[in-house]
Amino acid sequence: DEASDLRPESWTVSSNTAVRLSFVDEEGAVQFSPTFTYPIYGDSEQIFGYKDLQILLAFDSVTFKPFFNVKYEAKLADIDEDVQTKALKVLPEGDVVVKDEIAWVDAFNKERESFDLPGEDKKIASYNREGQDFVVYRVDLRDKNVRKLHRRMQIFTLFLIESASYIDEHDEGWELYMSFNTGNKKCVGYSTTYKYWKYMGAESFDSTEKTVQTGKISQFLIFPPYQSKGHGSELYNAIFNDWIKDTSVFEVTVEDPNEEFDSLRDRNDLKRLYVSGIANKIPQELPISDEWIETQRSAFKLEKRQFQRLLEMLLLYTSS
Ligand code: ACO
Repeated sequence: DEASDLRPESWTVSSNTAVRLSFVDEEGAVQFSPTFTYPIYGDSEQIFGYKDLQILLAFDSVTFKPFFNVKYEAKLADIDEDVQTKALKVLPEGDVVVKDEIAWVDAFNKERESFDLPGEDKKIASYNREGQDFVVYRVDLRDKNVRKLHRRMQIFTLFLIESASYIDEHDEGWELYMSFNTGNKKCVGYSTTYKYWKYMGAESFDSTEKTVQTGKISQFLIFPPYQSKGHGSELYNAIFNDWIKDTSVFEVTVEDPNEEFDSLRDRNDLKRLYVSGIANKIPQELPISDEWIETQRSAFKLEKRQFQRLLEMLLLYTSS
């Protein structure tokens, strides 16, 4: 009614609800919501000036070719909040199909014809889930197919990871780990990682000076339609095992892990320690010597703090 139309709240929507994300395939669309939209629509995550605003952002589930459309019931005449320009700014330039759904479907179907998974030489792990085969590949942004796919999917770091920002794609140090369903070629999730040189000095256990590399997990995500099926654990273990094999990597770290990631990391690190039989080798004498901790920690390539936390959990678990 006219009276309610005068109230500002009837023209204000949460950008987290207005943005509707979807993955599309032959069977239809899976829709889900972003956790964060402040990097695109501002800290208050509110959009003023529209009624029943829907910001539709769809991706082909194989090529991630993006589609954008805006729908609303009404718009205030003097509003210059341009929801489209703001979204397009964080999507690859010239790549997004706006409004024309038929053109978008044609475009991704054509792209699918030549869409290939990374080469066999990039394969670092494989697993089966619910009868489907998945492979984790280690790739980098010098590969133009990877670069294209990454440009399209990196917007999900903004939508799903708090305080995420885009990585510098011209920095050749970035290594990406990507998990694909090899049957339908859909990417279920990925992680960006970087190896940093670290000067050890006398800090090192054997006290000979050396520089070593720290493998850092920077952004890590499983796309919402594929979450809670163990893909996160598989991806994390694939990265970890890759770095266990890599003699240049001294320890594995994680940039700003959130609670969910901490839980995933603890579960998998604990399992790795447990399976190794370390529980039976924990010295009886307390406090446990720094030397023992350092030897074990470095064998498992865990950070000292993380290793100590896990040790406490193991002690609790095995003593109960
Ligand atoms: N069947 C049913 N449930 C399962 C199965 C299975 N086969 N396997 C695991 N689960 C359960 C786990 O027990 C776990 O339960 P919990 O949440 O109660 O502890 C849950 O599913 C999640 O475990 P996974 O499936 O291994 O993890 P998932 O694939 O869902 O990935 C992640 C977890 C990465 C946090 C994902 O939810 C995500 O991407 N979230 C959004 C982005 C994000 O938060 N990323 C981390 C930011 S921090 C950083 O980037 C460094």
